[in-house]
Amino acid sequence: TITNKEFPKGFLWGGATAANQLEGAFDQDGKGLSSADLVAYIPKDQRKKDNAIEITSDEIEKILSGEKVARYPKREGIDFYHRYKEDIALFAEMGFKVFRLSLNWARIFPNGDDQEPNEAGLKFYDDVFDELHKYGIEPLVTLSHYETPYGLTEKYNGWLGREVIGCFERYAKTVFTRYKDKVKYWLTFNEINMITLSPFTGGGIVSDRTEHPLQAQYQGLHHQFVASALVTKACHAIIPGAKIGCMLARMETYPNTPNPLDVRKAQLENQMNLFFTDVHARGEYPNYMNRFFKENQISIKKEDGDDEILKEYTVDYVSFSYYMSLTASASPEGERAQGNLFGGVKNPYLESSDWGWQIDPIGLRIMLNDMYDRYQKPLFLVENGLGAYDRVEEDGSIHDDYRIDYLRKHIEQMREAIEDGVDLMGYTSWGPIDLVSMSTSEMTKRYGFIYVDLDDDGNGTLKRSKKDSFDWYKKVIESNGVEL
Ligand code: BG6
Repeated sequence: TITNKEFPKGFLWGGATAANQLEGAFDQDGKGLSSADLVAYIPKDQRKKDNAIEITSDEIEKILSGEKVARYPKREGIDFYHRYKEDIALFAEMGFKVFRLSLNWARIFPNGDDQEPNEAGLKFYDDVFDELHKYGIEPLVTLSHYETPYGLTEKYNGWLGREVIGCFERYAKTVFTRYKDKVKYWLTFNEINMITLSPFTGGGIVSDRTEHPLQAQYQGLHHQFVASALVTKACHAIIPGAKIGCMLARMETYPNTPNPLDVRKAQLENQMNLFFTDVHARGEYPNYMNRFFKENQISIKKEDGDDEILKEYTVDYVSFSYYMSLTASASPEGERAQGNLFGGVKNPYLESSDWGWQIDPIGLRIMLNDMYDRYQKPLFLVENGLGAYDRVEEDGSIHDDYRIDYLRKHIEQMREAIEDGVDLMGYTSWGPIDLVSMSTSEMTKRYGFIYVDLDDDGNGTLKRSKKDSFDWYKKVIESNGVEL
């Protein structure tokens, strides 16, 4: 094990967020509705299997009719929209070099297909970027993080419609032009594999409006691939020197035993996961998907020129989230492991988080090595962290040693991977400030170094305070990873 070794000079330390999980102000200054604004908080005992956040046409109708069916925590977030200055000052105090955030597409194009952007939306992000630069923090901007404008669902059933490619291009070109002097790191789609797990979350697609939901997911995905390649092209044309990447929820999957059947099962699951970055980074659909498409009667409609676009405009770097590993068994019996939308059999060598996610720092090293071998492009770990319940002591302090322990072990393995030869650009831990959970819309599933006084029912003062991990992460950055 390598200890006390500095990370490479210029390593980008920071934190990662998404607009819909922290901004709030869902209907202010001209913002339109996005898919995330329709996602309700569901108490634990009423959640669906694997926390699947699907939505039906009936549910949408009820929500839009104004009938109060539930609370929608993503509409309120943690009020970053009004408190970004205070929050960015805290990130700066920790010494962030980079801050990952997403643009809420519907803040800029309220219906998704408007001809002209909403100036108030553009102005908000201008202010946020200026505030970041005041402290020397580089923004890393995700164009689409589960925030498809709802207007596109109404008109085209989200990304199922080929027209959405053009809408996305217009949006991307608008923000590249507007922010060309302020943003040099970009990502196209957050966890692009989400569209095949939760098509509404990942692509604004309502499954009960399709004849063949699986076909719809992969067709919508194809549109996202083409859109991603086209905006990669546009990004390079508009912002010379900018870097634009893709983003995958990486699920490194182990075989449950050395039984070749288990090994094959794990191989297949890894392929099904790596397929997405294979297209983005290598520029073509891998052969191994043909069998899956055939067996599931999926036939992707491509237009002339699509294959050439994918091939020509591959990404500059590959980014991903990593929270846990999975284990695959050809004959799954016994206890299952849980992720936000993933599962597998339980790995007896790993401990789990309060939400049942299997904690596996060494898996991170394995994954980084595999990804670098496969793509030979710079990598960026843009999400990693521990969702946990925190306790506020009487004096207001929060002793989150479990979070420090999780992060330390993962950062150690990141250092090992760099030593193994992996080209890693940076690390942005998920949710540097507590925010609304993507999968469950809980507030009490906390990831932050900064505590936000807000509970699952929406009660609280929204006051920010530092957890023990705040000073710890500050030291990590200050020492460039030497002091863990
Ligand atoms: C990733 C998403 O899947 O995991 C984030 O990109 C999300 O949006 C994060 O918040 C953690 O998941 P959850 O469900 O605990 O919020």
